[in-house]
Amino acid sequence: MGYAWIGAAAVVVGELIFGTFAFLWPRKKQGKGEKIFIAGKINDFKIGEVIYFRKEKTLIQRAEGGFLAFSAICPHLACIVNWNEMLKKYECPCHGATFNRNGEVLEGPPPRPLDLYKLQIVEEKLVVDTATLIERKKFEPSQVIKI
Ligand code: FES
Repeated sequence: MGYAWIGAAAVVVGELIFGTFAFLWPRKKQGKGEKIFIAGKINDFKIGEVIYFRKEKTLIQRAEGGFLAFSAICPHLACIVNWNEMLKKYECPCHGATFNRNGEVLEGPPPRPLDLYKLQIVEEKLVVDTATLIERKKFEPSQVIKI
């Protein structure tokens, strides 16, 4: 009986330690395999507009001269980031992080800018691959997929 209690206590302590580290550890890559969706046609987006695709957890922004496809999953602890149209910035509701329109951290604990998904323009349509996550240290104009 004593061994059963020791075993149960070891399981509880192990889950507590593992769960705490899993919660605190910054998110790395997500998803495996191909997950492609078509976000629409180029002309469906106005310049400066940001559209959220809930199922795919993707924010598509039409920038000057091209597009960016952001993962809406915060690089801190994976809450869903929202676009604030009035303030023109992305906001994470969990720990108060904000990101500029290029996805760079303005304030808060995220360790890096919003991640990008691989985006291609095929026959005037936006094709997003959510299985290909692109982590970055900062925004560079070359990240904008040109029209
Ligand atoms: S999960 Fe976004 S700031 Fe913490």
